[in-house]
Amino acid sequence: MDDRNDVPLVPDISQEDRNSRYIASSPSVLRENTPQSSKHIARVPEVTYRGVSAECESGEILRTVLRNNAMSPHTGMTEVVNCGGNSTCGTCAVRIVDGPIGERTTKEQARLAVSTYDDADDIRLACRYRVTDDVTAKRT
Ligand code: FES
Repeated sequence: MDDRNDVPLVPDISQEDRNSRYIASSPSVLRENTPQSSKHIARVPEVTYRGVSAECESGEILRTVLRNNAMSPHTGMTEVVNCGGNSTCGTCAVRIVDGPIGERTTKEQARLAVSTYDDADDIRLACRYRVTDDVTAKRT
């Protein structure tokens, strides 16, 4: 007797098995139906400044987010005359009212040390602040 004839060429798969395989192999359905799906949904931080809010990518520089959304931290001539985000002019200083204050960079700390903001822990240079969560800031 030939052993090859005992092995079915097509496995016996019921209609229910076929449906479950289809669901498991469909990435979109799998994403919607698995508890791990929330890990793949990126949290979009929201920045609020002067009563206006805007969403941004996590890790974006606060100064960039503000300027891209017509909420510049600069005022008057400092809108044009500033260091361009190099943390040397200090004109982008903001007070973090709500949200993570974060750590000042070394360069930022040096700049703020020669200002009246040195003792205020909630003051950050918008050009050195990376937005990682919802944050509300106001002009110093
Ligand atoms: S833009 Fe000059 S210190 Fe931030």
